[in-house]
Amino acid sequence: QLGLFTYDPGFLATASCQSAITFIDGDAGLLYYRGYPIEQLAEHSDFMEVCYLLLNGELPTAQEKKTFETSIRRHTMVHDQLHNFFKGFRRDAHPMAVMVGVVGALSAFYYDALKITNAEHRAISATRLLAKVPTIAAMCYRYNKGLPFMYPRNDLSYAANFLYMMFATPCEEYVPNPVLVRAFDRILTLHADHEQNASTSTVRLAGSSGANPFACIAAGIAALWGPAHGGANEAVLKQLEEIGDVSQVGKYIARAKDKNDSFRLMGFGHRIYKHMDPRAGVMRRTCHEVLTELGLHNDPLFKLALELERIALEDEYFITKKLYPNVDFYSGIVLRALGIPTSMFTAVFAMGRTVGWITQWNEMISDPQQKIGRPRQLYVGPVQRDWVPLEARD
Ligand code: SDX
Repeated sequence: QLGLFTYDPGFLATASCQSAITFIDGDAGLLYYRGYPIEQLAEHSDFMEVCYLLLNGELPTAQEKKTFETSIRRHTMVHDQLHNFFKGFRRDAHPMAVMVGVVGALSAFYYDALKITNAEHRAISATRLLAKVPTIAAMCYRYNKGLPFMYPRNDLSYAANFLYMMFATPCEEYVPNPVLVRAFDRILTLHADHEQNASTSTVRLAGSSGANPFACIAAGIAALWGPAHGGANEAVLKQLEEIGDVSQVGKYIARAKDKNDSFRLMGFGHRIYKHMDPRAGVMRRTCHEVLTELGLHNDPLFKLALELERIALEDEYFITKKLYPNVDFYSGIVLRALGIPTSMFTAVFAMGRTVGWITQWNEMISDPQQKIGRPRQLYVGPVQRDWVPLEARD
């Protein structure tokens, strides 16, 4: 019995830490941030409110939210020297490679006065990361396209500001579409935290040594990049384009079931969810909302994804293996509809997950019992043996 929850001993043995941030019940398909169901937060909160909730443990009052948003807005610009950092990358560098480098470089700008044992210093680091990661992500896109960097605008919401920095030009006025902004804001909420996933565990392990928090978040970005994790949304879209047509779905489902074929349906399956990922349902509805707003409700890839989900959910193998769509299955389609290129999909995931990484890092660092992480192993190598001189080796 841990607080309000009862765990079986087998599960307790696998737990890497105790946390009060995010609760997942994979069998029931439940996801709560600080006790609030993700469906309610996606429906009623905006991302700034969700960030406040994750970082502080409670929903903000109107004044608390206003103060929080103002503190974020005041740190959205990056040090001008950081612009030069981009020049070291080839224009065609993957945005995630650039993001890992540039976010890590923030540790070179904020280190001397930073005492991570000081709660105020940790809060300032959190504010700076939340504020600057969207600016850096947009800069990665602009650099890749050879477009001038757009400075953030403090009159826009967090989500609208990112879309502005991505798609505006100095030559024309940019008027964000409120339906698309709300959808993008909700996508950030869906990605905000997910307890001890691979990238969050990376941030916790790196942070447990007392490393600079900006460098720890860069480590999380690196882990998220993998196609089995945050890179799956980019892989889903490529896979849907490869499948091409509903008539081909059966062939790919058969490949996914073939033990001799390493092919996997990207966006399907999850280490924890053995039921529908609750984020996938919200993402599907958001996808439909955006496509409808843009007059793309007959988008062939969306139709293909819906049919793939329908067929897979009726298939014996997928039912037995408990393989359901996860958060990445529809996110690529909606991000593409928003005009975001596939190469930026994981960068958007990183933008949403930054608040989760910071919150988990902060929970660990502020625990007075906290020690450096030191996972152990089962050794399966050679037993002890003596050295053999070169001439005696055949
Ligand atoms: C994210 O951890 C998190 O919380 C991550 C995340 C987050 O918010 O941080 O939720 C975000 O990473 C979502 C997952 C995105 N990745 C993908 O969509 C890639 C495709 N999915 C698979 O690679 C896989 O499902 C994983 C990696 C997500 C989970 O793999 P597991 O839990 O290690 O499960 P497994 O590989 O042991 O699979 C169990 C069985 C296997 O068959 P058997 O060996 O038991 O016979 O299911 C099969 C697998 O072959 N299987 C699939 C499959 N996923 C698992 N078969 C076909 N297609 C798939 N997608």
